[in-house]
Amino acid sequence: MTRPDDWHVHFRDGEALKDVVPDTACRFARAIVMPNLDPPVTSVTQALAYRERILAAVPEGVEFTPLMTLYLTDNTSAQEIARAKQCQHVYAVKLYPAGATTNSALGVTDLNRVRDALSAMEDAGLPLLVHGEVVDANVDVFDRERIFIERVLSNLVERYSALKIVFEHVTTSHAVSFVDSAPATVAATITAHHLLLNRNAMFAGGVRPHHYCLPVLKREDHRTALIQAATGGSARYFLGTDSAPHPRSAKENACGCAGIYTAYAGLELYAEVFESAGVLERLEAFASFNGPDFYGLPRNKDQIEIHRARQDIPPTLPFGGEVTVPYRAGEQVAWSLAK
Ligand code: NCD
Ligand code: ZN
Repeated sequence: MTRPDDWHVHFRDGEALKDVVPDTACRFARAIVMPNLDPPVTSVTQALAYRERILAAVPEGVEFTPLMTLYLTDNTSAQEIARAKQCQHVYAVKLYPAGATTNSALGVTDLNRVRDALSAMEDAGLPLLVHGEVVDANVDVFDRERIFIERVLSNLVERYSALKIVFEHVTTSHAVSFVDSAPATVAATITAHHLLLNRNAMFAGGVRPHHYCLPVLKREDHRTALIQAATGGSARYFLGTDSAPHPRSAKENACGCAGIYTAYAGLELYAEVFESAGVLERLEAFASFNGPDFYGLPRNKDQIEIHRARQDIPPTLPFGGEVTVPYRAGEQVAWSLAK
């Protein structure tokens, strides 16, 4: 198949880069790199410096292009958006509602505060990537995506009719219905783990911190809706792993972090989903065509080969001097990358 891209990945920073970047770079030609570092990537200057650190972690002989993003804050200016558009390396801006997830404390508190930035993005054709959950503590954690659509996203789509919006890591049938009936400016990414797991996986025989992510896993009928969206042939949906490694100690913790590490099998896991849906032939569009088409970028020209051959997933993987526990740790994935 045509080499795919990952439209949503967390690489982290520092020592961890050399442990995680190769997993993505060996499968994907490009990846949209999330800016939720501590401190977050809020300026073009920071994004360009982060890009260099990522490139330094790409293995010799591997061609990989990180597509950088800016973290939207209440203070993001229209000028910074113009700089982003000009610099050739920044491809999107990420909206985290303040407090929604890992390192989102500096996120947006009120969309009225970012009107100038959003209008500038509309003019520049720079997509807004949305973490679609409300942070209202009165809203049940399983309803946060649905309520976000009602309270925030519908208005955003209406008010900024030319703004390209990617509804990131959708997890509910409500999100799928919204995207299916939204204007052509709206698309969505879907993770492998939301296609493969329902919320029972968090409580199988006891609490399973390595299956905790945000948005949190949902019930089976939502997973079924996501599978239909991903495998149904709609060009609105594309691959975004949301691969989000944390050190084991931060996951196996009285207050464990959200995030699941999947990049080491970032394409192969989706192959399992498309195979069991009986539409393997549709994996290529989901993984390699729909994303670049929406972003207005060229499709990749080179090919990648994956085989129906089991790969063993180690119990842990190195992660910046610590270890991270990958998804399927100690188990297998049904597909492998050709060597
Ligand atoms: C992500 C992280 O750890 O950075 N965690 C997650 O559960 N997906 C943040 C995010 O994308 O929400
Ligand atoms: Zn993410």
